[in-house]
Amino acid sequence: MRHLLTGFEFSQDEYLDILETASAMKKDPAKYRATLQGRSGAIMFEKPSLRTRTTFELAFYRLGGHGVYLDLQNGELGKRETIADYSRNLCRWVDCLVGRVFAQSTLEELAKYGSVPVVNALSDLYHPAQAMADYLTIKEHLGKIEGVKVAYVGDGNNVTNSLFVAGAILGANVTCFCPENRSPDAAVFIKANEIAKQHGCVLNVENDISKLKDFDVIYTDTWVSMGDNTPLEAVKKVYMPYQVNQNLVDKSGAKIVMHCLPAHRGYEITDEVMDGSKSVVFDEAENRLHIHMAVLAKLINA
Ligand code: CP
Ligand code: NVA
Repeated sequence: MRHLLTGFEFSQDEYLDILETASAMKKDPAKYRATLQGRSGAIMFEKPSLRTRTTFELAFYRLGGHGVYLDLQNGELGKRETIADYSRNLCRWVDCLVGRVFAQSTLEELAKYGSVPVVNALSDLYHPAQAMADYLTIKEHLGKIEGVKVAYVGDGNNVTNSLFVAGAILGANVTCFCPENRSPDAAVFIKANEIAKQHGCVLNVENDISKLKDFDVIYTDTWVSMGDNTPLEAVKKVYMPYQVNQNLVDKSGAKIVMHCLPAHRGYEITDEVMDGSKSVVFDEAENRLHIHMAVLAKLINA
């Protein structure tokens, strides 16, 4: 049985296979209508979501299966009963658990005590299916992933970690430009960097935003992630030099601009860039659906 907990679980061939399957499903969805017939999943979210929730539910539906949404926004997992018992219950009914959680350890526990695949739909540390959709989007727009130069600009967070992991596995060069003390997770970086070395690509963390030149892709995300109640205004001064505005995009040479969304217009990205000709943010959002279909098919039908 396989899980998608961190993104480290899959080889380059498996990533490429997921991306190819997603493309095929995007092209001809009717062909896959019975792929998960009679199968179901529990979709458990401790945090809000537009894209991830909608696309996981639709992914089950489009493959002939059913996703049951469990709203946990009024309480974290493990409060009403233990996570272990929660998992043991659900596994008697469904074929997969999809979880958006505060703590990565919650997903690890669901997997430990359950008997079905667990999919990470965002945790404090990773957003692995997001990264898969992101690299599919890069492939569609730039024709390749290997050797592509990606600049992530802003707060080093769960999305950054997953861009590093998937980038290293797929052979992309990824640099995170962020303020000091806002770097992505050091342990994830070290592990991803080992894989990058094997695949001939380079990962970097850089504070000096003036070095943002000669990149193919600019990627940004919110300066304050879910679970952190700091108002955006309070961090504005620290992050403003890293705002993805037209000047920054022009200097970078980037061909496309990406954002996992939701966007905070006027903060990490300006209207001009978000609505500009290089923005592929809604292609990226669309690809969440196709990737989720491919991931669920792979894990549930394994
Ligand atoms: N990008 C993303 O995960 O969006 P949601 O938080 O709306 O699911
Ligand atoms: N880093 C953001 C991503 C939202 C999709 C968060 O965790 O809130």
